[in-house]
Amino acid sequence: MKVSVFAVDVGYGNTKSAFRMGSDIATQMFPSVTPIAVSEAVSSYGQGVLHARKVLPIEVDGATYEIGPGVELSSAYGNAGRTLSEDFCLTSNYAALLGGSLQFAGVTEVDRMVLGLPVHTINKYSAHLRDAFTGTLNFGHGDIRVHSVKVVPQPLGSLVSFSEYGGSRFDRENAHLVIDVGYFTTDWVVAHGFTMNDRRSGGAPGGASQVYKSIASLIAKSEKEPVDDIERIDKCLREKKPLLFYGKDVDLIPYLEQSQAIINATVKEMQNRVGRTADLRSIVLTGGGAALYEASIRAAFPRVQLDVLDAPCYANAKGFLIVGEATLARERKPVGVAA
Ligand SMILES: Nc1ncnc2c1ncn2[C@@H]1O[C@H](COP(=O)(O)OP(=O)(O)OP(=O)(O)O)[C@@H](O)[C@H]1O
Ligand SMILES: [Mg+2]
Repeated sequence: MKVSVFAVDVGYGNTKSAFRMGSDIATQMFPSVTPIAVSEAVSSYGQGVLHARKVLPIEVDGATYEIGPGVELSSAYGNAGRTLSEDFCLTSNYAALLGGSLQFAGVTEVDRMVLGLPVHTINKYSAHLRDAFTGTLNFGHGDIRVHSVKVVPQPLGSLVSFSEYGGSRFDRENAHLVIDVGYFTTDWVVAHGFTMNDRRSGGAPGGASQVYKSIASLIAKSEKEPVDDIERIDKCLREKKPLLFYGKDVDLIPYLEQSQAIINATVKEMQNRVGRTADLRSIVLTGGGAALYEASIRAAFPRVQLDVLDAPCYANAKGFLIVGEATLARERKPVGVAA
């Protein structure tokens, strides 16, 4: 299938993508986990009895990874193999997640692929992403032709989504503060219209996973057993369920309350960097970890309106799609025709 724009937000936690299908926007998400594929998967013997897992083999640099919504999250020892380093976008794991997005969508040709990077690494890595993913790609399922790649700061995607879907709440004459709470990083941007104020924008490694890690170590202390299964803590918190731990249903809320200091520290750092907030029309809260941070942000900025985005996981990818379409349209406009 050929698409005009394909937008991918490869995050440390989840890989999200968006593209146009007729008048609808198709979105997909899977965990950013890249185990090496096992050739004779035991799960295939259960076919017809058990559902086959929804994964695809994706080849990068001679290695084959299993990618997709059905990927195994908890390996035997709790480490699911997420890459949590700043140079994530240089790794084969990143390429495999990107390849998985294209392959699951069935894309074979793209005019413009839009990718995002965290605010504090965009200058360092955007040229690499453009070079690595423009041209003919192959992940073991046939050629995929990508004619151009555009790289944007991740929170800008949410700002564009907000301007498109936020009704009259987006104020292009004044500034908004966009806060994107991800799995590993919390990024923020102060933007006037779509122009970012670099001095007031930044990022900190204070995402949802740090909170889960703190909860895990608090449980470990009180249960006197090692706890490293942060994936299950994440899922139980999201589904508002207790955590099953050796036959016991552990209520996570008290542990979450005890971990509040981690959230507050990140919010404090952001507050210092953003400075006075009298000029902000609103704070736009986005990213899959938005709910974890909401109370702390409200307390820190009591006089600023808070706009919490719907489906915050997808907001960046949907905004990237709009950025891709707008830039393509601008470039294709014949010279001499007024806007
Ligand atoms: N349906 C869902 N499936 C998986 N995770 C979800 C879902 N809804 C919300 N989340 C939450 O999203 C969080 C991750 O957020 P998000 O996907 O925005 O991070 P990311 O963009 O991958 O990370 P980063 O921005 O640090 O690179 C997880 O901690 C999880 O709790
Ligand atoms: Mg993110």
